[in-house]
Amino acid sequence: MNAAARPAWRVAAGGGVGGTLSVPGDKSISHRALMLGALAEGDTHISGFLAGEDCLATAHALEALGVSIERSADTELVVHGLGEAGLRAAAGALDMGNAGTAMRLMMGLLAGQKFDSTLVGDESLMRRPMERVAVPLQMMGARIHTRQGRPPVEIRGTPHLRAIHYTLPVASAQVKSALLLAGLSAEGRTRLTEPAASRDHTERMLRAFGVELLHEGGTIAMEGGQVLRGTEVAVPADFSSAAFFIVAAVLAATKPLVLTNIGVNPTRTGLLELLQRMGADIRVRARSPADAPEPVADIEVHRSKLHGISVPEAIIPLCIDELPVFFVAAACASGETVVRGALELRVKESDRLAAMAAGLARLGVEHQLLADGLWIRGAESLGGGTVESLGDHRVAMAFAVAALKARAPIEIADVANVATSFPGFLDAARAAGLRIAPR
Ligand code: S3P
Repeated sequence: MNAAARPAWRVAAGGGVGGTLSVPGDKSISHRALMLGALAEGDTHISGFLAGEDCLATAHALEALGVSIERSADTELVVHGLGEAGLRAAAGALDMGNAGTAMRLMMGLLAGQKFDSTLVGDESLMRRPMERVAVPLQMMGARIHTRQGRPPVEIRGTPHLRAIHYTLPVASAQVKSALLLAGLSAEGRTRLTEPAASRDHTERMLRAFGVELLHEGGTIAMEGGQVLRGTEVAVPADFSSAAFFIVAAVLAATKPLVLTNIGVNPTRTGLLELLQRMGADIRVRARSPADAPEPVADIEVHRSKLHGISVPEAIIPLCIDELPVFFVAAACASGETVVRGALELRVKESDRLAAMAAGLARLGVEHQLLADGLWIRGAESLGGGTVESLGDHRVAMAFAVAALKARAPIEIADVANVATSFPGFLDAARAAGLRIAPR
């Protein structure tokens, strides 16, 4: 697509937000519900599903592998599980679109199958590192080939996998989840040790499907050969989508903003802790029973004066997808904020450190791009202008929020990929109070 044909947004400067808002279902949980549902025996009923492009790529890939998925509504579906041994070879390459989670988890799911598979994706995904999953899967006996660490990923059928004890070099839920999926068909006990806690949706959902997982100290352990039983999965609203409006309301609420039914798994909500440390008034009201597989809450956000902080590195994996919009909060806080230990941001849908630094530069924010983070000096208000999203959904939405504190309109280029994680963002943003329109 040439640049002129790429959709863009124009967001008016200033304004306020408030009211009650819901956001679509959780992307991470929707991917996992489809995959575990496919591997299970019996039907899995999913409600609150995220019908965004990323999760639809996972659904289409599973259909190509022989799984039947019925959609009674946009967000309601039934996966007719085939059991671990029921998948069959797809007729062609599986296209995972923009979805890193889909590609990496599918590598784990397919590694122990008897047939060959090839995984491809869009321009961004074809540049992303897959060795982090391929290497430990190869240690399990999988026959996986990448092109210098990047897609296409070619997986050859394997008679059997063997369990390993693997210490992850980076805290990555995608790597952990891929190895758990492969471990289901491996002989022996798979043991995974993470350098820091990453999101634990796979572990929670495996338990809901009847799989036994053990904690051996800081190590997760799972015996291979366990059978998954189809179940009901209620997908909470995506905290990562709510995050844009949480920051919007902290910066510019004219009345409180209440976000309803949001997933508040503690491995995802690091942003709340950071904003609260900066002085934000955010109240979380639990909505789910204590034994729900995933905790859900309403989040009430009040306009607050923020001050800069030094972000503890241990929190980074717990807010990894929220850092783009966190940088916008930091740009509007008094004093300095520094984020380090966030090298992973360089290998997301875009190099998010570089993309955010370039956009903040456009808006006149004093900052310094570090090798593994960003230093920012906040200001009362931001400038306007055109920023590039680099085709990255979270960068695009973060800069839409920035307009609330800008002195002139912000134009955001190349926003089509917002549909990967947040279909209906424009409507939700307008309902919250942002004055945003396609350009
Ligand atoms: C995800 C894990 C994270 C996150 C991504 C979704 C998941 O990636 O950034 O958006 O669903 O497991 P990493 O595992 O690479 O940290």
